[in-house]
Amino acid sequence: MNVLIIGNGAREHALCWSVARSEGVQRVFVAPGNGGTALMGGKVSNVPLKVTALDDLLRFAVDNGVELTVVGSEAPLELGIVDLFRRAGKKIVGPTQSAARLESSKVFSKKFMQRHHIPTAGYHVFHDAPSAHTHIELTQTVFPQVIKASGLCAGKGVYIAFDKEQALRAIGELFEERIFGDAGNEVVIEEFLQGEEASVFALTDGTAYQLFLPAQDHKRIGDGDTGKNTGGMGAYAPAPLVTPEVMRMVEERIIQPTLKGMRDEGSLYTGFLYVGLMINEGEPSVVEYNARMGDPECQVVLPLLKSDFVAALMASVEGSLDDVPFEMHRKSAATVVIASGGYPDHYETGRAINIADELSAMEDCLLFHAGTEYDGARLVTAGGRVFSVTAVGSTLRESIDRAYRAVKMISFEGACYRTDIGARAL
Ligand code: AMP
Ligand code: GLY
Repeated sequence: MNVLIIGNGAREHALCWSVARSEGVQRVFVAPGNGGTALMGGKVSNVPLKVTALDDLLRFAVDNGVELTVVGSEAPLELGIVDLFRRAGKKIVGPTQSAARLESSKVFSKKFMQRHHIPTAGYHVFHDAPSAHTHIELTQTVFPQVIKASGLCAGKGVYIAFDKEQALRAIGELFEERIFGDAGNEVVIEEFLQGEEASVFALTDGTAYQLFLPAQDHKRIGDGDTGKNTGGMGAYAPAPLVTPEVMRMVEERIIQPTLKGMRDEGSLYTGFLYVGLMINEGEPSVVEYNARMGDPECQVVLPLLKSDFVAALMASVEGSLDDVPFEMHRKSAATVVIASGGYPDHYETGRAINIADELSAMEDCLLFHAGTEYDGARLVTAGGRVFSVTAVGSTLRESIDRAYRAVKMISFEGACYRTDIGARAL
């Protein structure tokens, strides 16, 4: 079977690695891929197509006998890639454009959760600055408040306002300066949730679902969760915070009613469902949904999957997910992101990368590339997040230590990373 993976981050490198291990897979194409997928060789090759070039991607899939396509990132889902492929009779993992609104419209997802009594922060929706200002004036004794652009903003459209001034500035950036363009046409202002965050990932055919191990992401750039928000600087799984009891609540109160709610509304949800949770005194509520796997969480949950990934992906498309094995290794995994100096603000690219030879010999260590480029001779940096260095171990401690040993074998000018990934769980 030939498989096409869409995206260019470490998440897609991990998807590619996992898919390529499947025996029934002859070729894996990654569009556009990165330096890491370019270097995989064997059955894996990059295809120079943008993730948003939907017609070209479909033509490529048809011309190259692609039997299964896996969408890594959210942009093509919002544009309707799943609808397009299905109309052409091509199998694809992901939700339709309508179902992907769970991620692409925060207004839709908040109203959906309210309709189906799924626990989440209380909220109000605004369409212009004056009404949002009035709301802030009326509620100014309750800070912090969380102010969010409704549309997709690559993880940057969320403000935590600790006082009225910060709230008004956020509203100004969204409605007046329009820094996120149309994604900020609607704004959600919601209650600040206390607690600790974790992520749960399901693969679903719309009715049946299978769960990966729960993970925790590290969103801030600096050690001790300080500094700016990023795409994610590291992750580990399983997250002990999500006890079996919490997981049971997440299934009963969140995952099952979400899938049933989408079915009842005529918008069957298929593919990966990412539930971002806040867990407070053992009670989970939803911070956000995403319609895809997380990055960097994917780089720790996939290496812990023992069963055949492609068989499960196929079953999710064919509606038979209840019939496939979906077992996890009884191990832990940690991933440390190495970023370009300056990320998440301005950073340089094109820096030569050095990787010590010992790294490839390290057992239970997986080097996933993100922003790298390989021109056939040289590997250089090409993005903010450059690598996601994953290690598996029999304990979380072992996986963290191993990942950091591997991190030290990689160098490029300006490289930076957090030194406390997973520390809070130890
Ligand atoms: P989102 O893009 O909705 O996941 O928000 C990004 C980050 O903002 C989350 O990972 C949380 O750390 C934080 N956040 C979002 N909504 C809330 C909330 N209602 N209460 C507390 N923190 C939040
Ligand atoms: N790790 C956060 C995200 O993928 O959105």
